Amino acid sequence: MCGIVGYIGEKDSADVLLDELGKLEYRGYDSAGIAVFEQGKIKIVKAKGHLSELKKKLEKTGTPRGVCGIGHTRWATHGGPSDVNAHPHAAPNVTIVHNGIIENYLQLKEMLKGQGYDFVSDTDTEVMAKLIDYSYHGDPLKAIAAALGHARGSYALGILFADFPERIYAVRKDSPLIVGAGQGENFIASDIPAILKYTRHYYLLDENEIAEITMQGVTFHTLSGETVEKEEQTAAFDIAAAEKGGFAHFMLKEIYEQPKSVRDTVNPRLLNGLPSLGCGDLSGVERVHIIGCGTAMHAGLVGRAAIERFARVPAEVHVASEFRYGDPIIGKKDLAVIISQSGETADTLAALRLAKQKGVRTMAIVNVVGSSIAREADCVLYTWAGPEIAVASTKAYSVQLAMLDLLALQLALDHGRISPHETRVLCADLQKLPDMVEEALKLDASCKEAAAAYAKQEIAFFIGRGVDYPSSMEGALKLKEIAYVESEAYAAGELKHGTISLIVEHTPVIALATQSKLFEKTVSNIKEVKARGAEVLLLCGKGAHVTEDVADHVLMLPDVPEWLMPSVLVVPLQLFAYYMAAERGCDIDQPRNLAKSVTVE
Ligand code: F6R
Repeated sequence: MCGIVGYIGEKDSADVLLDELGKLEYRGYDSAGIAVFEQGKIKIVKAKGHLSELKKKLEKTGTPRGVCGIGHTRWATHGGPSDVNAHPHAAPNVTIVHNGIIENYLQLKEMLKGQGYDFVSDTDTEVMAKLIDYSYHGDPLKAIAAALGHARGSYALGILFADFPERIYAVRKDSPLIVGAGQGENFIASDIPAILKYTRHYYLLDENEIAEITMQGVTFHTLSGETVEKEEQTAAFDIAAAEKGGFAHFMLKEIYEQPKSVRDTVNPRLLNGLPSLGCGDLSGVERVHIIGCGTAMHAGLVGRAAIERFARVPAEVHVASEFRYGDPIIGKKDLAVIISQSGETADTLAALRLAKQKGVRTMAIVNVVGSSIAREADCVLYTWAGPEIAVASTKAYSVQLAMLDLLALQLALDHGRISPHETRVLCADLQKLPDMVEEALKLDASCKEAAAAYAKQEIAFFIGRGVDYPSSMEGALKLKEIAYVESEAYAAGELKHGTISLIVEHTPVIALATQSKLFEKTVSNIKEVKARGAEVLLLCGKGAHVTEDVADHVLMLPDVPEWLMPSVLVVPLQLFAYYMAAERGCDIDQPRNLAKSVTVE
């Protein structure tokens, strides 16, 4: 949520900043801006709208030229999208870009007004720029530390000081920021893909650590002024992984990457055919709390079913934003499983911290290496989806499901609920999952056809029983977020308790029926909606007995063991949403009002 970048080096900084921002647009696209030192003076250009609007504006105003600058792509929080609220924000000595929220900005604004500062925007960021300016008496490090002593909230800041035209300062707390290390050039960025074209080497900034960046190198300092030594990291993926690679959209590319992502996630976690999570013995775990937001939470709902089925350990799923402000009942022998693609979601991070405070063992399932959640959990299970750029999560969900399957089997084995032999058989199924997902991708053309049939509809209902119910929630979420179709998910048996009143002639109902023991029950529910005129798209296993009158459209899934059906079923659901969005002319990779990595609560 909001992307920040910075560059200092021999290259033209504006060109590099714009290129970096292009890689971070998924983090917000309400406005964009850059600030560049041109002949010793800071020049700022910013514009409401996507990065393309900023580029158009630069063509008119002329692009500031220089070797050092910072840039921003915004997801609006304080103050609506506008030129004036766009970053960078400036004070006489200081120009900044910011990702996060300064919670006490109104009090700080009043204090600064009392000191003679005027404000032009509605943003908390302008307050921060002026607070640093107010604290500045010739020493940037001291000014930043002093200002942060007064600010409450979350921030990743890129800062230029007018007196130091060949330096960038950066600091973070509860918002991501990395420092890229090149040859005679250095970078800051909210996320690794922004710098990959230039370097794979980077440093992770710790909380409240300040980086002082010049062309020649980077030094790190604590707020109290001590120098910190840091270990350089190397990105595990290259630029090709962060580009579209011939696909029309990142989302489609990422849907197609799922077999590889699942393979890369499962294989390293198997040893002699058994799960090997490396998080210690789980036999003492009495209850599992799974916590996440959005798609990650949906993965948790599917995972809960596997955990309860195989390990017979009670599992609960919590929405992170509710968990963090609730008073959750957690026993000392419980396990908190925190799921997050980005590893930076503010509510999920806060939930992890609450779980730790309660003294419970924490385990994180995270896709971004070195992210805050990964660093703070007691044990981290990395998923290997590679960078997920499209705002709508697809491959990250699939790897979360696969990791939860492994966790379910590990718990079952450690609790002695299944024998090593049975576990090996199930793990062998899991190893074949990438091929099954590959098979499901062959439904692409049928999904496109089904989407064309429904593209003009403004509402849709997804129904499913048992483990198909959370899959319905995920299918509905995908359709809402990228195709802007009002879609709701219901446990199939629940529809007649109220919602069926909304079913009229041609209402789309997407029915999921992958579990043989529930198939007939779901078919009865389909008949109920069909009797009211619904146009039904049924997704079921190949073996299911489907008579012609059951559904208007049928997508038959490949033959797979039923416990793995959610991983296969999600593929046509993603493709259906993708093609619906395409038919409706939506901005698929950057849906309105959304941003990847929600670092504000
Ligand atoms: C939906 C989507 C979101 C995220 C949610 C959590 O397609 O992407 O619902 O799943 O914001 O994000 P992470 O997993 O980064 O914590």
